[in-house]
Amino acid sequence: DEIKIFCPATVANVNCGFDTLGFALEGIGDKMVFRKVSTPGVTITVITGEELPMEAHNNVAGVAGNAMLQGIQADFGVEIEIHKNIRSGSGIGSSAASAAGAVFGINQLLDHPISNLELTRYAMKGEALASGNEHADNVAPCIYGGTTLITGYDPLRVISLPPMETVYVGILHPHIKIATKDARAILPKEVPLKDAITQAQRLAGFVASLYEWDKQLFIESVQDVLVEPHRKQLIPHFDTIKTLSKEHGCMAFGISGSGPSLFAFAFAKANIESYLMASKAYYKQQHLKVDTYSSQI
Ligand code: HSE
Repeated sequence: DEIKIFCPATVANVNCGFDTLGFALEGIGDKMVFRKVSTPGVTITVITGEELPMEAHNNVAGVAGNAMLQGIQADFGVEIEIHKNIRSGSGIGSSAASAAGAVFGINQLLDHPISNLELTRYAMKGEALASGNEHADNVAPCIYGGTTLITGYDPLRVISLPPMETVYVGILHPHIKIATKDARAILPKEVPLKDAITQAQRLAGFVASLYEWDKQLFIESVQDVLVEPHRKQLIPHFDTIKTLSKEHGCMAFGISGSGPSLFAFAFAKANIESYLMASKAYYKQQHLKVDTYSSQI
């Protein structure tokens, strides 16, 4: 038996929901292949596209997969091929795609599949290896698809949100690497009450805007007063690119996950395309390579 799956890239945080919100991107992601074998545990047989550890205990897919095999007391093992298309350290859920993909793929091999919530729990174990922290805002949308909201970690609760309507997303990936661990280490442990209130209002506004599609509320809600002020220094020319996004008619802009990828939202494809072209040209002048990606959400 061989199972092949696609593991989408994801955008976490979405400005107003640090460790809470995330959505899956279409058409950009990894591929993984699974084979049921009698040797217990996860054996990683092939990795293409990235230099990553082959030993299961050092690999996010291995850690997540083994956590699941142990949790369900599997009487079999799996061989996994990982074909990476999402660059590690790019901020669009590379480690999450491997961790979520591992558990999603193993689930396809089971006679009695387990729930997406349980899969998310196991995937978080792999994610923790990469980031030093068990957050689910990338693995959940990777497993559930669409946009997900984590309303709690203890116990874990994941809610699939209604779709964002006719929203286009553009991703700009400047070729530098940011380790999530490092991007978390620079964040303050405490935040002013005023900022906590603003952020709570934005997240609530975001969720409300989706349940009763409210374009204006949506735009006003995709903002970040907690994390962006600290992390933007890690991303070259952040303020210039933010200004370019506005000039080209994008209505929201921010850091994808822990960066360096940047996301922008617009209501028309043309805005995203001209913004991406302009920022790519700007980065080129600065001798920085970038990848761009766009789609409708
Ligand atoms: N919420 C996490 C962070 C996502 O921003 O640190 C990282 O992938």
